[in-house]
Amino acid sequence: MSKVVERGARLSARALVGLLGEWNGDGHAYVALAERLRLLIRDGRVPAGTRLPSEREIAAALRRSRTTVVAAYQALRETGHLVSVRGSGSVATLPHAEAASQHAVDFAHALSPPVEGLDELVASMGKDFLAALDGPEVDLLGNPGLRTAVAQRFTERGLPTAPDQILITLGAQHAIALVAHTLLHRGDHALVESPTYPYAYEALRRAGARLTVTPVSAEGWDIDHLIDLLGRLRPALAYLMPDFHNPTGASMLPEDRVRVLTAARRAGTTLLVDETTAELTIDRPWDDGPFARHGHRMTGAGSTVLTVGSLSKTVWGGLRLGWVRAERSIIQRLVQARPAGDLGNPQMEQMVGVRVMQALPDLLNRRSAQLRAHRDALCRHVRDRLPTWQVPMVQGGLSLWVGLDRPVSSALALLCHTRGLAISAGPRFTVDGSHERFLRLPFTAPLPDLERGITVLADCWNEIQSSPHRVPADQHLPSVL
Ligand SMILES: Cc1ncc(COP(=O)(O)O)c(C=O)c1O
Repeated sequence: MSKVVERGARLSARALVGLLGEWNGDGHAYVALAERLRLLIRDGRVPAGTRLPSEREIAAALRRSRTTVVAAYQALRETGHLVSVRGSGSVATLPHAEAASQHAVDFAHALSPPVEGLDELVASMGKDFLAALDGPEVDLLGNPGLRTAVAQRFTERGLPTAPDQILITLGAQHAIALVAHTLLHRGDHALVESPTYPYAYEALRRAGARLTVTPVSAEGWDIDHLIDLLGRLRPALAYLMPDFHNPTGASMLPEDRVRVLTAARRAGTTLLVDETTAELTIDRPWDDGPFARHGHRMTGAGSTVLTVGSLSKTVWGGLRLGWVRAERSIIQRLVQARPAGDLGNPQMEQMVGVRVMQALPDLLNRRSAQLRAHRDALCRHVRDRLPTWQVPMVQGGLSLWVGLDRPVSSALALLCHTRGLAISAGPRFTVDGSHERFLRLPFTAPLPDLERGITVLADCWNEIQSSPHRVPADQHLPSVL
């Protein structure tokens, strides 16, 4: 069971010890403690605004002297990562300058450039954009043409869908957060994969969910564990990514999808299926279509499947176009709840979205070719420079979930940050701070950056190997997408 860390919430000493993991190095303990805490604050696992345990509490929980913790907290205050607030104790903060920190190479974000051909498509809009001015000022549901096109794509992929089952959103993240806030009640159980896409579990947590995890690796899911958990816990919601899972790249086998869906129906669990990465195939020899198509064939009452998707990874993240596919009654609930968070979709972007959907098969082919070249280059560089790392073969998606032969992912990420490489440590993708033996390597950066990034990684890895407890002094950790 995960610990809930909410903005403004108080973090217990026990929860913090869990998040810290193996933090100690061979230098001063207070320096190592401050650095690991800084990592947690910077990568968002301890959000700015969180009230930290008192020095006395954490010293007791860590079985360390109070002097060590006092010195660590003082070091964090000096770098602007902690402030003392009257009545609240020590509160995590982010120094102003960090929000804009730049790295020479970015492996922290799995963001692809606009797909080849998007520029021509946008240029061809010309005066057509003026029609957007006839659109509504507040558009909570989405452009009818775009909803029809998205519904048609689902239908073509094997899941009959009507336009009124589609809600257009500001990307998939918005869709996940809207679903979480609309359907979950505080204290509801929600099941998430571990590792997983961090902003999804953060959205569920903010909606008040109690998170429980089921494991996924580059080889796939422990389906028996997942099914057993659904049966025992009967969670209100399970968030799953069955195709080209972020970060592992795994895809769930079609026969397992049926088993999971059957178990979810029995448990009354709503499945929130994230298909943001589902159409990023490179060379997977099969395509099972939308996950929800299996549910479509099942009759009788049971759970619902909500599918979220997006053009962010297939086409371009800057469009901020995503969707939810659900039963009509759920779409209506989402639309009703929406204005508390945002007042609807932009008209011009949706017009581009309609054209994009018309050209989608061609654009997907181009994205696939680009991903193939980048995946192959990254695998080659890792095998050349880091031959002891376990590199899984992925057939699509955006990243490799590589296995390190030592649990030093956080220390490695920290050292890389001092050398100009932004990268997220394995535990950033988990709710419980586990997976120190893993690192996510996105293959979305430009080809020369992939090589430069791996060179930095290899140098830092060698340094850590020769000085096993080396933990660097200064880091800048960005967000992760
Ligand atoms: C699995 C997954 N879902 C959702 C999102 C958010 O996508 P969007 O940019 O459409 O909000 C991301 C972005 O990284 C992602 O990796």
